Amino acid sequence: MASQINAHSEYLDSILLRRKFNPNELLQILREAQEHYGYIHSDAIDYLSEKLKFPRSKIEGVASFYSFIYLQPQGEYRVLFSDNITDRMLGNMDLMASMCAQLWVESGKLSEDGLLTINTTSCTGMCDQGPALLVNNIAINRLSNERVGGICELIRERVPVSAWPVEFFAIEDNIRRKDILLGSDFISGSALSNLIQRGPDEVLNEVKISKLRGRGGAGFSTGSKWDFCRAAPGEQHYVVCNADEGEPGTFKDRVLLNGYADLVFEGMTLCARIIGAKKGFLYLRGEYRYLLDHLQAVLHHRRQQKLLGQNILGVKDFNFDIEIHLGAGAYICGEESALIESLEGKRGTPRNRPPFPVTNGYLNQPTVVNNVETFAATSLIGLNGGAWYAGIGTETSSGTKILSVSGDCEHPGLYEYPFGVTVAQVLADCGARNTQAVQVSGPSGICVAANEFERKIGFEDIPTAGAFMVFDQSRDMFEVARNFIHFFAHESCGFCTPCRVGTSLLSNMMDKLSHGFGSPYDLAEIEKLNVLLQSTSHCGLGHSACNPVLDTIAKFRPAYEKRLAHSEYVPAFDLDRALSQARQMTGRDDRAAHLERSGDRRAKS
Ligand SMILES: Cc1cc2nc3c(=O)[nH]c(=O)nc-3n(C[C@H](O)[C@H](O)[C@H](O)COP(=O)(O)O)c2cc1C
Ligand code: SF4
Repeated sequence: MASQINAHSEYLDSILLRRKFNPNELLQILREAQEHYGYIHSDAIDYLSEKLKFPRSKIEGVASFYSFIYLQPQGEYRVLFSDNITDRMLGNMDLMASMCAQLWVESGKLSEDGLLTINTTSCTGMCDQGPALLVNNIAINRLSNERVGGICELIRERVPVSAWPVEFFAIEDNIRRKDILLGSDFISGSALSNLIQRGPDEVLNEVKISKLRGRGGAGFSTGSKWDFCRAAPGEQHYVVCNADEGEPGTFKDRVLLNGYADLVFEGMTLCARIIGAKKGFLYLRGEYRYLLDHLQAVLHHRRQQKLLGQNILGVKDFNFDIEIHLGAGAYICGEESALIESLEGKRGTPRNRPPFPVTNGYLNQPTVVNNVETFAATSLIGLNGGAWYAGIGTETSSGTKILSVSGDCEHPGLYEYPFGVTVAQVLADCGARNTQAVQVSGPSGICVAANEFERKIGFEDIPTAGAFMVFDQSRDMFEVARNFIHFFAHESCGFCTPCRVGTSLLSNMMDKLSHGFGSPYDLAEIEKLNVLLQSTSHCGLGHSACNPVLDTIAKFRPAYEKRLAHSEYVPAFDLDRALSQARQMTGRDDRAAHLERSGDRRAKS
């Protein structure tokens, strides 16, 4: 690629020119350069450093933060198997092993001919149609042995991904239950016309009356957030739509952006008028790259309709436009301050809070960050009024909530309910049977056991960003928790020690129990680690990383106890097992070839 850089530096120049040599666009520049060159070569970093007048070390630091930015050659085909628990339940690991065997490649390594890499990645947001993978960042779902065989054939024949059968890339919306949002016949521009007639003050008041709370997880009052931001001094105000949707098991924003983008963009434009913003961003997770062209087309259409741009709907000084920024495979960038760092072209490290984004957000200016579903709901409120919205749902949780249902049920997909629906009702509607537990709101959420199925979805009982993963009686809840802990250890941004070290210690301990080396000592250590993580982590990821373990220890303790094979502490490292390859090579597996201590220990257990 060194020669490529020299020969084609005009390509880098064209990106830089389009991005106005702005270091705040660094992530987008790296992403676009990689789409062209396949990876970011050291020479490209030097070139960018010189042109952007930005330290090389910083560029390298940013590039190395994001798992979809590569500093080493990856091959023509980059295959990433989605590795959420629901993908595991559908056999993703066997399919990956089969692909590796068929293509003679070891997972995580570049094939000898430099053609491809195969690896895993965190949940790709396709849990309703898994197992799933990304090939060169484009999703392929409903994997089967046959489909994997077809993919191997195409790779072997070096068919470019753009020429692969279109049905491989079909992504369904799977909308199973509609309510006011998914069932709305919203006409684009109608909420904005209402805003223009009534004025920003009145519409902000309607948002407050609606009692709408954020749908991204924390549940902060949307009206108050907009009001704080509006009142905050600054040269510019900004609107940011959080479409990072990285919580395993959540995929509702994917469907909203695919089928309801007008509602989302209209909500952002309402917000812009109210807070006085001229610029907005949609931060789209890298896994949803396939939505980019569609979203650009919707934005283009809205500009043509005078719903974006200068003098919106003919109103002088109503100027606002939206830019799409793509993420690059970092769950932590869903956390709003990390997202803002990422928008500024930096590593997605969460900031200290306070100050909050409403006063010190993008470029240190007042910024509203809301979830996709929140913005969509504000369009309905802008059109139909706050009292109408507040009349739906419960006293504390107004309106509806879209649930992303996956796992052991007949009809996975999206279900929109007024808040207050019971877990049991959702289970009945999605065709779940013999359900043991439901993980609501993803790994950082709540594990609901069968005796709690009459509990209600709502901020007053079970708050949720939307994931609803169903586990039937055949599932091992310890293994579910282990998968979630691996996720957190993988996604910890590494900024603070309790989370960086704590999540990986927790992950090792869960592995230790899984491999049969657990003792009551380890369980006590796990409980201690949980306290440490919860009390000393810098951001929400660290605080909630131990939730799955705490919940499953409390509700499914036998699943842990059966793994405490030893009454006293034993080390996790099993030298005898580590030597198994050497034994294989020498063709010996007799008793004398085993280490006595380890063998005895296993015999006793
Ligand atoms: C680790 C972590 C990941 C998060 N991921 C998302 C996400 O993918 N989408 C989202 O809207 N909010 C996410 N949030 C919550 C955001 O920080 C923020 O509260 C939200 O975007 C605000 O929008 P809302 O008020 O409309 O909910 C995450 C928070 C944490 C701590
Ligand atoms: S808690 Fe974890 S994810 Fe959050 S800042 Fe610390 S290391 Fe990063």
